Amino acid sequence: MPKHSNTLEKLLAAHARKIDQLLQSTIAERAGGDTPKRLCDAMNYAATNGGKRLRPFLVSQTAAMLGRQDQGVLMAGAALECIHSYSLVHDDLPAMDNDDLRRGKPTTHKAYDEATAILVGDALQTLGFELLSDEIIHVDPAKRLILIQELAKASGAAGMVGGQLLDLAAEGRFDGARPVQSEPSIRAMQAMKTGALLRFACVAGAELADASPHDIDTMRQFGEIIGLAFQLADDILDRTGSAASLGKSAGKDEAAGKATLVDFLGLEQAKVHLDKQVKAAHAILDGYGSDADILKQTASFIAHRLS
Ligand code: IPE
Ligand code: IPE
Ligand code: MG
Ligand code: MG
Ligand code: MG
Repeated sequence: MPKHSNTLEKLLAAHARKIDQLLQSTIAERAGGDTPKRLCDAMNYAATNGGKRLRPFLVSQTAAMLGRQDQGVLMAGAALECIHSYSLVHDDLPAMDNDDLRRGKPTTHKAYDEATAILVGDALQTLGFELLSDEIIHVDPAKRLILIQELAKASGAAGMVGGQLLDLAAEGRFDGARPVQSEPSIRAMQAMKTGALLRFACVAGAELADASPHDIDTMRQFGEIIGLAFQLADDILDRTGSAASLGKSAGKDEAAGKATLVDFLGLEQAKVHLDKQVKAAHAILDGYGSDADILKQTASFIAHRLS
């Protein structure tokens, strides 16, 4: 299977720096006035602490493939990253995964405190929607509304948040009973908890570029496949990686008794399955010729990343 190139890693790193700067300046602009300094500092800590910025990269690369490349696209990516960063802050809380390490640094509730971390998540979530409502995103307010609605669905009860609840239920959190897991039920949970935001990234890139309904649908299919591939890779890395390489604790799924596709398939078959998903993602983009090269390499990166 084609691996991603060093050039892709360089592109990703350069893009991540732009998103970091944009998030930093966006949060700094809101400092002072009525916004408490502690909240701004903690939001900055949680949002600009070294993520890969893969979701904004997908927004940018999808929009670029379909003909749009500007600061508005970057801002839409930053908005999505606010939602993703909020989801991580809450995911790490003691009531959820109880993690001390994130992106190579103490989690937000460790660096600050639990109450501040909860409020940071809340504030990043609303900031994401505020940014998406800005006219820099798209001249047409109706298009901005579509993006806001799609992101609300992707991140809400029928998307990321709902998937997070199913993920915790699978550990037997709520009534002590672990629901019987099947491969389809794990896939459905993962499509919600991780897949929905990655799918949104691809659909949003297409919407921002005023793509045709056919192109939007193609990017939805691509996003769905790479969403599942992304979580499968995350679950494989949880088994095979180390805290030093991942920047977050490893081995925690097994310790929590969390059923993942790796349990059903075994590590080797899980890797084979991952390769198949990446090939399927590449095939979906075949109609775009060399314009799709970067997105195809991004799909490979999702499978072969080390963190
Ligand atoms: C980690 O996401 C959490 C999951 C959704 C599995 P990423 O691997 O994209 O994390 P960062 O943003 O690069 O830290
Ligand atoms: C988190 O999944 C998915 C989110 C919606 C944040 P995990 O719990 O597997 O993510 P990590 O491994 O802590 O990054
Ligand atoms: Mg979790
Ligand atoms: Mg977690
Ligand atoms: Mg994980």
